[in-house]
Amino acid sequence: MQTAKNIGEVRLSTDLILDLKELTAGFPEHKIFMVFESNTWASCRTRVIGFRNVPEENILVLKPGEDNKNISQVIEVWEHLGKAGADRHSLVINVGGGMLTDLGGFAACTFKRGLAFINIPTTLLAMVDASTGGKTGINFRGLKNEIGVIRQPKNVLIHMPFLRTLDRENLLSGYAEMLKAGLIADRQLWDRLKAFDMTDMDEEILEELIWQSIGIKKRVVDEDPEERGIRKALNFGHTIGHALESEALHAGQPLPHGFAVAFGMITEAILSNRKCGLSPESVSDIRETVIRLYGEPPVTMKESDPLLGWMRFDKKNRDNTINFTLLDEIGSCRINQAGDDEEIREVLRLTKP
Ligand SMILES: NC(=O)c1ccc[n+]([C@@H]2O[C@H](COP(=O)([O-])OP(=O)(O)OC[C@H]3O[C@@H](n4cnc5c(N)ncnc54)[C@H](O)[C@@H]3O)[C@@H](O)[C@H]2O)c1
Repeated sequence: MQTAKNIGEVRLSTDLILDLKELTAGFPEHKIFMVFESNTWASCRTRVIGFRNVPEENILVLKPGEDNKNISQVIEVWEHLGKAGADRHSLVINVGGGMLTDLGGFAACTFKRGLAFINIPTTLLAMVDASTGGKTGINFRGLKNEIGVIRQPKNVLIHMPFLRTLDRENLLSGYAEMLKAGLIADRQLWDRLKAFDMTDMDEEILEELIWQSIGIKKRVVDEDPEERGIRKALNFGHTIGHALESEALHAGQPLPHGFAVAFGMITEAILSNRKCGLSPESVSDIRETVIRLYGEPPVTMKESDPLLGWMRFDKKNRDNTINFTLLDEIGSCRINQAGDDEEIREVLRLTKP
């Protein structure tokens, strides 16, 4: 019996073993490779190993964490694939959070000009964001996601039980991307997310909210996979968020991606009020929701020069202007909004006075 829900290549899977059997049926077992990192090997492998008789030497376990999203680990995957005889008819299955799906996806789609890959996201952030949309990559010379390609996964399997071992910080990190999805595209989703009790989570309701968030991302990416236009909508909160994430890392106090995006959404909501008429009530609504869930931003925003410095590296910029996606109301956004240095300094000061 097939009860799974699908949006394109993304499937809500209640039975991973059954789904993997079906989705890998066209690949001989010795052509299937699996990539984990040590934490997902420890907490997630029992739910995925055994769907077929994949040889042990085709399973690779990498080092976890953002610091390890680097070229050395990509080389390790390439070497492993090469030694085990992977060819263009092979399949790579990535099991992990966004670090692993970004890196494993990149390694797969650069090896012999591209192997098919399946993502099995095990964090909330990877479920609602990193594992879909086809952005793959690694950090390079201190810059996040500096090297990468866009290539769509063959399938993405969302399996809710993985979230049972995830800590609160990582749950909240992924939740920020869901809040963002509501803010840019669906006021009702935003209201439901605000009302959802993160301290006593109802898995069924969470599943619906995750599925709705994925639906928004998929709709946008399907329309503009290469990020030439509307895909930039997904960057709300991210221009400031990425700068905060880089600055916090530089200061030795790493900030999870979603927390940085959440604080970035406060600043960008204030900028939205100035430039796109977002109402003051909506700005307060966003600020209060973020602070209730994430606390106050931990890095000062008064010192705007370092943050502006990071923003100039942003891949979304063109012709030296800093580019934002802003809201005109909750549930609706405008892309390609340029901010000048003075405006940015001012809204940063207002974010954390
Ligand atoms: N490609 C994209 O479109 C995109 C979008 C957003 C973020 N990202 C990238 O995603 C990464 C962040 O993703 P993340 O937050 O998932 O980080 P992550 O992969 O580092 O996972 C966070 C932590 O959770 C652990 N973990 C993973 N699954 C677990 C489970 N089921 N139970 C317990 N622990 C588990 C990991 O080992 C790690 O310690 C960043 O590198 C970011 O650049 C990519």
